[in-house]
Amino acid sequence: MAGPHEGQGSRCAHPISLAAFGGADHPAPRSSGWAVVQRNRCRCASVGPVPLRPKAERDRSPDLGRNNPEQYDALADQWWLPRGEFAMLHWLAAARAALVPAAPRPGAVLVDLGCGAGLLAPHLVGKGYRHVGVDLTRSALALAADHGVTAVRGDVGRVPLVDGCADVVCAGEILEHVPDLPAAVGEACRVLRPGGLLVVDTIADTRLARLVAVTIAERVPGAAPKGIHDPALFVDRAHLVRLCADNGVGIALRGIRPSALDVVRLLAGRGDGVRMVPAPTTSVLFQGIGRKRST
Ligand SMILES: C[S@@+](CC[C@H](N)C(=O)[O-])C[C@H]1O[C@@H](n2cnc3c(N)ncnc32)[C@H](O)[C@@H]1O
Repeated sequence: MAGPHEGQGSRCAHPISLAAFGGADHPAPRSSGWAVVQRNRCRCASVGPVPLRPKAERDRSPDLGRNNPEQYDALADQWWLPRGEFAMLHWLAAARAALVPAAPRPGAVLVDLGCGAGLLAPHLVGKGYRHVGVDLTRSALALAADHGVTAVRGDVGRVPLVDGCADVVCAGEILEHVPDLPAAVGEACRVLRPGGLLVVDTIADTRLARLVAVTIAERVPGAAPKGIHDPALFVDRAHLVRLCADNGVGIALRGIRPSALDVVRLLAGRGDGVRMVPAPTTSVLFQGIGRKRST
């Protein structure tokens, strides 16, 4: 299963239509911190099948301490490699985008909190959103902008966007990185318009998740870079549901996991993509979805 940005030896041809992202009718806000770069065509440099990143190379990565944002700078060349250190983020982005319906109106805005290098972008093509990404890491934002994302530097605990500006807010693989979960959830719900859709995915605060997402995943190329997670920040599911409810969004959770068949195919060198499928439990990786109250 080849993902939309995967292929053989040429630049990705996925169009990113300015009109689809709002174009001149929906210019980016002019507040400080906005870095607007939009392109007519996705500039994803496609790569052919490449081996999973060798263990020796992974072990050479500097030890910056757990959950240190500088790790994303050190791994900037890995973001868009389908078999690189962030391979699993590509699979999760596809699963997240599957929860996002077509834009409800022309010029609809999707705010992508902790957008990283914009891996969600190819999966939103044709849905009709202007894709606004917020992140702390400049190197990741530059890559996101190259992929058609309106890139905004900011902390998800203090998002530099106005109240109710978003038709959809995605918070994918970010909540398990923030020291102040109530602030991040509060901000996600604040920028969401009444009736808008919140989509999250993150890692549960359980012993099983610590085993799977840290002990095991950090030894599996493509699952999680070494030291990227601080398990102390993993997300208590009941707390998350309560925080969303307190901010006017009732969310439902479901567990997800990589398709075992696709993983076997990947390891056998057949295909680069892995589908995320429903899991019987939310106790490792989970998605949440809900709408903000209209009044
Ligand atoms: C695991 S990556 C997920 C990226 C993207 N959502 C994806 O799924 O591909 C986490 C991202 O969150 C960003 N990040 C971490 N803490 C942040 C914060 N407090 N505010 C904004 N971005 C943050 C990092 O720079 C990184 O790009």
